[in-house]
Amino acid sequence: MKKIVQVVLGVTGSIAAYKAAELLRLMQQRSWNVSVIMTKAATRFVGELTFRTLSRNPVAVELFDEVELWRPAHVSAADAADVLVIAPCTANVLAKLAHGLADDMLTSTALACQAPIVVAPAMNAHMWDHPATRENVKTLKARGVAIVDVGKGELACGYEGRGRMASLEAILSAMDSALKT
Ligand SMILES: Cc1cc2nc3c(=O)[nH]c(=O)nc-3n(C[C@H](O)[C@H](O)[C@H](O)COP(=O)(O)O)c2cc1C
Repeated sequence: MKKIVQVVLGVTGSIAAYKAAELLRLMQQRSWNVSVIMTKAATRFVGELTFRTLSRNPVAVELFDEVELWRPAHVSAADAADVLVIAPCTANVLAKLAHGLADDMLTSTALACQAPIVVAPAMNAHMWDHPATRENVKTLKARGVAIVDVGKGELACGYEGRGRMASLEAILSAMDSALKT
């Protein structure tokens, strides 16, 4: 029997968070099972209910939520994942990943995760061009994290430039490649 691909989809506090709902739908069309982890900031942009209903799975936000099992939820999520994709990924979470910080459910899961990680950044052009972000992207790439390059154009913040989240097709294609590794 064909094994169902287990995806952990991380959603962070970017204006592009609404696109993650459509990304989830496309993953489901591939019969992938998707569990969503949101940062607290992400819940300011899209409701947890949207992802819970679409994914038909519980959505994790809190690291310290009471769970019935003895195992910390971030460890279980990390172990269950065939691939962890963070789309959209804020400058903040990008920096946390690069530096191994784990102060919430999503970044704790990422640090515990041995599966391939795909990151689709989305941010203001100045945040993307900032030397700190450039350095963080370099660090993550060197570590084998797949960074789906941002696009150029009109940004929601009113700026024109690089920082738009990559197309959903490009993110899925990066996930396909990651799953083959
Ligand atoms: C309206 C609005 C839009 C934002 N969009 C982005 C964004 O696209 N990318 C980004 O890196 N930060 C963005 N931010 C800032 C993040 O929400 C902020 O850095 C937050 O702390 C990120 O938390 P998280 O990384 O834990 O999700 C935005 C903030 C606001 C108020």
